[in-house]
Amino acid sequence: MNSDGKMRLGAFFNPTGHHVASWRHARAQADAGINFQHYVEIARTAERAKFDMVFFADNVCVREANMEALSRSAQYIANFEPLTLLSALAPMTSHIGLVATASTSYNEPFHVARKFASIDHISGGRAGWNLVTSGQEAEAKNFGREKHYAHGERYERAREFAEIVTGLWDSWDDDAFVRNKETGQFFHPEKLHPLNHKGENFSVRGPLNVPRTPQGRPVIVQAGGSEDMIKVAAEFAEVIFCAPLSLDNAKTFYAELKGRVASYGRDPDQVKIMPGLSCIIGRTAAEAEEQAAHLQSLIHPMVAREILSMVMGYADLSRYALDDPMPLDLPQSNMSQSTFRFVMDMARKENLTIKETALRVAGARGKAVVKGSPTQIADQMEEWFRGAGCDGFNLMPPFLPGGLDDFVELVLPELRRRGLFRTEYEGRTLREHLGLVRPPSRYAVPVVKAAAKPASERSRASG
Ligand SMILES: Cc1cc2nc3c(=O)[nH]c(=O)nc-3n(C[C@H](O)[C@H](O)[C@H](O)COP(=O)(O)O)c2cc1C
Repeated sequence: MNSDGKMRLGAFFNPTGHHVASWRHARAQADAGINFQHYVEIARTAERAKFDMVFFADNVCVREANMEALSRSAQYIANFEPLTLLSALAPMTSHIGLVATASTSYNEPFHVARKFASIDHISGGRAGWNLVTSGQEAEAKNFGREKHYAHGERYERAREFAEIVTGLWDSWDDDAFVRNKETGQFFHPEKLHPLNHKGENFSVRGPLNVPRTPQGRPVIVQAGGSEDMIKVAAEFAEVIFCAPLSLDNAKTFYAELKGRVASYGRDPDQVKIMPGLSCIIGRTAAEAEEQAAHLQSLIHPMVAREILSMVMGYADLSRYALDDPMPLDLPQSNMSQSTFRFVMDMARKENLTIKETALRVAGARGKAVVKGSPTQIADQMEEWFRGAGCDGFNLMPPFLPGGLDDFVELVLPELRRRGLFRTEYEGRTLREHLGLVRPPSRYAVPVVKAAAKPASERSRASG
């Protein structure tokens, strides 16, 4: 829980919303993926509501799936490249953090460092990079590979990638540039630091050709939950996007990760853990049930089966009937390890059939879904927050813009009434919103405070 006792909230925008059938909802923008005005409106709604950040996920592919099912879903099929979108949204907003995904498996560290540094300058210090290693085999096939990197291998690459990017962000000292037209001196040579990285997977000379950013470094976010992910996150991440499905899962992950952060000599309060949370809100519990039933009724059975198969690492469920019990012996795939584990736990604990599991997962692709009245939703969020399950949430509106409007209108006032969420921004940068310090450059000469002179010497000095 944050030292100021307030939740941190991200607005995780999947164009039409996170429910798999969101695009069919009357209050959803079906062409959202390529409708820039839609993004401006939802980003401004989140900013007016004082959210910490908006977040745009990304896959560098159209996933491989049964075409019948694929042609009936709108998620990650056709939408803007997220960094292009962030830089377009920067001038349309003034305070809200701008976070997007860039994969360490299918990008170059120099490009990622340069793009997020540029967005941090353009936005006045609001950029955040969601570091992922990609989870889809189809992504590998767009970058000259037949097979995706193995789980462990891609996280080792990610560790080196993060080391390079943070090193490049420290290329220039804050006061490197003098731009003195009289003397003709543009920058202080001693304040420029080439990286000269030579590693297992990358060699990058640097320096970066973008000055040190308003935040010092854009905020590093990381999504995931496996052991491999935790190793990288404990060393580099400042915000964690995860997907526990129960408070027990959340508390275990929270304690584990904060402990690992401390083992790197870092302050655990400088890492914010924000589980994904999709809220189906009604003015009453009954109305919320109706909303949820309506959304579920929009799901085409083939889409539900396809999404479950994808979340379970493209497990072949075709030989089972939908009403068969969820098979609990599916092999762990090379894709997501934590989501696979959380969904298996849920199916085992609740004895779910394949159909029941598919319909649960379809709500937010394996992330937590809560439904109820504003008080009931606030109760569950407060329980996780006060129960050491999280430092806030990455809100996943089930349909957009309607689901976000409901949360802002109905749930936020309740969270504020309980003193759990801000009423005004604390500052201008994403770091100030999150309560994260501005990191010093690794080359910064630590200012050695003159040791306090002993009293006798001071009196002598003052004569
Ligand atoms: C809230 C959230 C957002 C995510 N966003 C992305 C994304 O934008 N792109 C992506 O490839 N994976 C994304 N992932 C998936 C993770 O990167 C990761 O592959 C997955 O959580 C499994 O991680 P693990 O194998 O370390 O457990 C996201 C996961 C979560 C929980």
